[in-house]
Amino acid sequence: MREQFSSQLNRKDPELDVSLRPARFQDFIGQIKVRERLELFVEAARGRGEVLDHMLLSGPPGLGKTTLAYILATAMDSNVRATSGPVIDKPADLAGILTSLEPGDVVFIDEIHRMQKSVEEYLYSAMEDFVIDIMLDQGPNARAIRLNLPRFTLVGATTRSGLLSAPLRSRFGLTCRLDYYNHADLQSIVRRSASLLKVPIDDDGSLEIAARARGTPRIANNLLRRVRDYAQVRADNRIVREIADQALAMLEIDRYGLDEMDKRLLDTLVHKFAGGPVGLNSLAVSVGEEPDTIEEVYEPYLIQEGYLKRTPQGRVATDLCYQRMGLPGHAVSQGSLL
Ligand SMILES: Nc1ncnc2c1ncn2[C@@H]1O[C@H](COP(=O)(O)OP(=O)(O)O)[C@@H](O)[C@H]1O
Ligand SMILES: [Mg+2]
Repeated sequence: MREQFSSQLNRKDPELDVSLRPARFQDFIGQIKVRERLELFVEAARGRGEVLDHMLLSGPPGLGKTTLAYILATAMDSNVRATSGPVIDKPADLAGILTSLEPGDVVFIDEIHRMQKSVEEYLYSAMEDFVIDIMLDQGPNARAIRLNLPRFTLVGATTRSGLLSAPLRSRFGLTCRLDYYNHADLQSIVRRSASLLKVPIDDDGSLEIAARARGTPRIANNLLRRVRDYAQVRADNRIVREIADQALAMLEIDRYGLDEMDKRLLDTLVHKFAGGPVGLNSLAVSVGEEPDTIEEVYEPYLIQEGYLKRTPQGRVATDLCYQRMGLPGHAVSQGSLL
């Protein structure tokens, strides 16, 4: 029950996502370097009266990829055509989208790493030369006709940049990687969302939520909503640290913001593999997740927070990891780290 809840915190809630989504660069908090690059890119393209080059946004779920795609389009005064890799399952679906574009439109393809190979190949000429070859008829009568497309900007988003093929990757003019947010930025996001939702919150209350959000704006917003419910029923609507803490404790949200898979990974590493080193694949099999997903979605946060290390021999649990699990440090069993 509780595991289910914590794993749902990074699920998309289309309504909440849209209502709290910043629409302009000025409201997009954190990720300074990415923001700066994108703003510059937009200004340069606008200055030349050109269409923005294609770009790829990568990073774990809930960090703002979709948000940035829409911000880019707004900044360019363009429309967005949004779709996702698994949805376009035949070349005709892609052709349908591309042939109905207005010049300068942004085509947003979410989860672009999950696009079929056969579709991906059509995208190459579309991205590079703004043409698409469509096959008419089959067998001996088969012939291709070439359609010219208006200039457009492809914005691809992926949680798994490692799965993108080299030819596709090379067709993006710019690649930006989003990182987990620090507590201060998440706190600003919580404050902003609270004011949009008209929930009174103080600094300690917003920091408490920020610290338990796994570095992820979407989780911060979802926690805020849960805490708001609690404050409404059990208190006077106002979110202060104590209320946030009680609400999150009741929901069994980890004090450090770890989710179910994070905990399972660390637990397996410590108990099944004696703290490592263990290879990525063995770890993946034990927790029942794909190695690439572990590497690109879960591990970066655990490494950033200092629970886990990558070594040439494999993954290793740190002392902090043991400490947080309430176990004596593994330096003893390893006999080497002190
Ligand atoms: N930098 C940010 N500043 C404020 N809110 C953000 C930011 N990044 C993400 N969010 C919030 O988090 C939610 C999830 O972001 P989204 O762009 O859908 O993530 P992704 O596409 O990377 O999974 C958005 O609805 C938005 O409200
Ligand atoms: Mg998204």
